[in-house]
Amino acid sequence: MSRSVPSIHGQWSSRWAFILAATGSAVGLGNIWKFPYIAGENGGGAFVLVYLLCIACIGLPIMMAEVMLGRRGRQNPINSLETIAKDEQASPLWKYLGWSGIAAGFIILSYYSVIAGQAMAYIFRAFSGVFEGVTADGAENIYATLKQDPERLLAWHTLFMMITMTVVARGVQHGLEKTVRFLMPTLFLILILLVGYAASTGEYFNQAVSFLFKPDFSQLTSEGVLIAMGHAFFTLSLGMGAIMAYGSYLPKETSILQVSITIAIADTLVALLAGLAIFPLVFANDMQPSSGPGLIFETLPIAFGHIAGGEFFGGLFFTLLVFAAWTSAISLIEPAVAWLVENRNVSRRRACVYIGSSAWFVGLLTVFSFNIGSEWTLFGKTAFDLFDYLTANIMLPLGGLFIAIFAGWFMKQDSSTEELAITRPIFYHGWRILIRYVTPTAVVIIFLKGIGLLG
Ligand code: TRP
Repeated sequence: MSRSVPSIHGQWSSRWAFILAATGSAVGLGNIWKFPYIAGENGGGAFVLVYLLCIACIGLPIMMAEVMLGRRGRQNPINSLETIAKDEQASPLWKYLGWSGIAAGFIILSYYSVIAGQAMAYIFRAFSGVFEGVTADGAENIYATLKQDPERLLAWHTLFMMITMTVVARGVQHGLEKTVRFLMPTLFLILILLVGYAASTGEYFNQAVSFLFKPDFSQLTSEGVLIAMGHAFFTLSLGMGAIMAYGSYLPKETSILQVSITIAIADTLVALLAGLAIFPLVFANDMQPSSGPGLIFETLPIAFGHIAGGEFFGGLFFTLLVFAAWTSAISLIEPAVAWLVENRNVSRRRACVYIGSSAWFVGLLTVFSFNIGSEWTLFGKTAFDLFDYLTANIMLPLGGLFIAIFAGWFMKQDSSTEELAITRPIFYHGWRILIRYVTPTAVVIIFLKGIGLLG
């Protein structure tokens, strides 16, 4: 039976509030910072195609499963899984799936805040006109100077984490809804403006379009496929319970299918627009698509340095990027905070301070991995690379896999029918086939091949 009581944290005021918050969680650094650079590192078109397939066949069904489980459990992911497992006569061990999600969210937050801090630093660089007339070399230098200075990175990382803690402390509805309502449309508009500028590069724009949309499968490795799948989880905020926690504040009558599709489409559009804004600049300036995590910081300033009003648009762009990162970071700590509040009788404010400051502390490793600690490696990866690989390519896909297995095999058909309440039977059965067979098989194969365990 689903719990008839709403969550103790309150409910979204409407379906739109949920869509905005979940889109706010989904759209973030993953779309604008990460997607372009991993697409660039993994050869473009074929990678993008696999990524899109993963969004549709793996991401979407798992998102529906997460929202459904959250709404049925009406608590933080750990307790929701425990309650539902009990109702369905499944093992109480399922609650540990919630724990691994909380751990993943915590690690992601630790480095997410460092990158968001870099975006914050860029707000000031853009507004103060540093980018005016900048060349590709100049832009690379500006980024290198920031990244190699541990004190600056630390200061921005600290500021970003403090702001995140403050917002989450105030609760889910206050502030968040209003911010996202203004943020999403404006971010969209600026991205379109940037794509417009990129289109003015003519042949380079065409080159970028074929780089992104003409699949060349010889460029794609098994690891690349794993990265594409991992990113589908990352960008939709899946596999760790964030969407489950948000789902627990969802009013009963909302269509889970509809909201999930809306969120996935919005998220994908933002990523593709970001790619279309960035790659023409990469080609026009003889830069490398595979230049890594600094890609947006090294390319977009060139655009802002050359368009009319570039200082203003540049400043606004990085401001919006920070807001987007912020609405994502909120969802990264929400499950852990909700758990502390519900189970340990801690006030919301304290819970935020505990989680935020511990994630801040772990984030120091990422801060140093860009400078004094760039030599500290494990399995040939710096702390930042390791955190990113471990979460996006291992923890999220495995978390998603178990969520799919739980929703598809351990939750009775009657329960998922009731909770999803999809009016057209064909859509419900389509979902169920995906979640029971397609999604788990695909995740297992891609995962094993990607880490090199399957030939
Ligand atoms: N989806 C966000 C982005 O693309 C990051 C994020 C927020 C996330 N919450 C998450 C990733 C939960 C994984 C799990 O920037």
